[in-house]
Amino acid sequence: MKIGVILGTRPEIIKLSSIIRELERLKNYKELNSIYKDIGSINYFIIHTNQHYSENMDKIFFKELNLPIPNYNLNVGSGSHGKQTAKMLEGIEEVLIKEKPDVVIVQGDTNTVLAGALAASKLKIKVAHVEAGLRSFDKNMPEEINRVLTDHLSDYLFAPTDIAKENLLNEGIKEKIFVVGNTIVDATLQNIGIAERREDIKKFVKLLSNGDEYFLLTLHRAENTDNRERLKSIVEAIVEISTKYDKNKIIFPIHPRTKKRLKEYNLFDKLKNENIKIIKPVGYLEFLMLEKNAKLILTDSGGVQEEACILKVPCITLRDNTERPETINVGCNILVGANKEKIINGIESMLKNAGNWENPFGDGKTGKTIVKILVNQI
Ligand code: UD1
Ligand code: UDP
Repeated sequence: MKIGVILGTRPEIIKLSSIIRELERLKNYKELNSIYKDIGSINYFIIHTNQHYSENMDKIFFKELNLPIPNYNLNVGSGSHGKQTAKMLEGIEEVLIKEKPDVVIVQGDTNTVLAGALAASKLKIKVAHVEAGLRSFDKNMPEEINRVLTDHLSDYLFAPTDIAKENLLNEGIKEKIFVVGNTIVDATLQNIGIAERREDIKKFVKLLSNGDEYFLLTLHRAENTDNRERLKSIVEAIVEISTKYDKNKIIFPIHPRTKKRLKEYNLFDKLKNENIKIIKPVGYLEFLMLEKNAKLILTDSGGVQEEACILKVPCITLRDNTERPETINVGCNILVGANKEKIINGIESMLKNAGNWENPFGDGKTGKTIVKILVNQI
């Protein structure tokens, strides 16, 4: 059987890494394990749309996670939603017609995911959606549109939790839903140990934090970055936090989108302050160590909310909703939106949080489970 893996952005590379590793293992496995049906050989290929293309948003993850170079790179890059998705559709379709896979795997909620699912389903190629069933119930988010459409196009829906399965059932999707956990646990557990053994990474964290306690910040969501008022309010909150908690640093690996917008809105210089360390996006090992050692995480990222929960670091989410309610239910995360007072009060309340919650996203074997199910379904 032949499987096509379609990816394009930082989180997809990270969250598909355990699946790709398992496919690579099976590809090279001469006598397939008895747990697999009589399926002959397993082959796979990777299509990279290159939605993310900057070295530290793309190649660094293939290197650090030891992943094979994608067989196809579509060089799509940035653009408006329509243009970007259209270029992806055209490129993916061409490859799928040539390769004729039995199934394609997409992960998450980006434009790459929607393009992959749409191109494949029109060619009557089965679609497997990893991280199916997440819902913010907020159609202002491009990601929500991508998630809903992809789930309805998919043949195999790998829901991370029972809540995600319930969302799918509520939309009338009844078949081929598998609750399997989230591959982010695989990636986190597989890599945190590697990061902790790396002296250079320990040194990097120490140098950045000056050995002091610190808060870690990430920000890139369109509803925050593309709205001047929201972005200004978040910036003001960050500046106030840097004075109020002046013994702590705020470390901010900045997404290129956010840097561009902060400059456009003349907000970038407001963050120039000795307690705020703005750095370029970092590799996965560096980022995991920054998370693990943070006193608290402020973010609007999906994956970072999950990792905070897994690494037992309290999290403040700079959004009005989340498609990861499990993080809130277990007590790891709170929603504070972009409101300055709410952000500051949120920090105060979460700093009292001890971090003894359960990880709701599975056992770290999700990648293997997904491949096993898929191979037995096709
Ligand atoms: C995309 C996803 C979002 C995901 C995020 C992960 C969509 C609609 N959005 O958002 O769901 O959370 O990836 O990080 O698919 N840029 C660079 N270098 C890069 C990539 C982007 O400089 O390698 C800059 C460009 O100015 C670009 C902007 O960032 O216009 C936005 O990039 P884009 O891929 O459109 O969306 P993200 O904000 O990265
Ligand atoms: N990440 C990283 N370096 C950084 C910031 C984030 O490796 O400088 C990782 C992080 O560990 C997580 C993923 O990127 O696994 C999250 O990506 P992002 O926030 O861009 O996207 P989202 O999860 O919101 O879709």
